[in-house]
Amino acid sequence: MKKHERIALDSLLSRSSTDDLTTPAPKGEELETILSAVMRAPDHGKLRPWRLALVHGEARAKLADRVVASMKRIDPNAPEKKIEKRHHRFSNMPLTIVLGMHLRPDDKIPLLEQQLAVGAAGMNLLNALHAAGYGAVWVSGDIAYDPVFATELGFPAPHALAGFFFVGTPKDSDHDAKRRPVTPYVAEWKGEPVSFGADKD
Ligand SMILES: Cc1cc2nc3c(=O)[nH]c(=O)nc-3n(C[C@H](O)[C@H](O)[C@H](O)COP(=O)(O)O)c2cc1C
Repeated sequence: MKKHERIALDSLLSRSSTDDLTTPAPKGEELETILSAVMRAPDHGKLRPWRLALVHGEARAKLADRVVASMKRIDPNAPEKKIEKRHHRFSNMPLTIVLGMHLRPDDKIPLLEQQLAVGAAGMNLLNALHAAGYGAVWVSGDIAYDPVFATELGFPAPHALAGFFFVGTPKDSDHDAKRRPVTPYVAEWKGEPVSFGADKD
């Protein structure tokens, strides 16, 4: 394996999520380079169904207010503590990237494949952020499935939200959630249905 290939692989093998983030978040040319990773996601039919809405600066408080409105719409009795926590999170993250899905239900490419392509774009985004030295986490929650909130963000049905990426600099630069070995998730198919160690109890 060549040196640059090993570096790329090490980066993939060391990413983990964190919401313990501070400034700076990427901006300008660096941010554009990172975002460009979504354009490398596999995409059946070249539909490019991913959309990225950037929320920073003063817009964060506006987003947090819409989040709270959505929470109250979903559950008028939502606990005040939960509301405050989410409002604080959305108001204070250095950068939030809303990942939207521009879906075409009547296209010959199945909707699931369009959604998978957006998922792949999200993964590329997380990996690009990590490779550039930033931290991130992909979150959703019930608000991500509120069509009114999705419309307020620019994704009216049939379009939808895939989630929110909180982005910044990890407060703990050594954060790295340990992983299980992959072996129980791999099997060799030899003509009969496979079974996996991961599914045995
Ligand atoms: C589509 C999607 C939505 C997610 N939503 C949430 C969420 O709302 N809250 C949460 O704590 N984790 C959520 N996660 C999981 C985190 O992004 C993250 O993967 C998890 O905390 C494990 O960390 P890791 O990425 O280091 O394995 C979501 C992941 C995906 C792919």
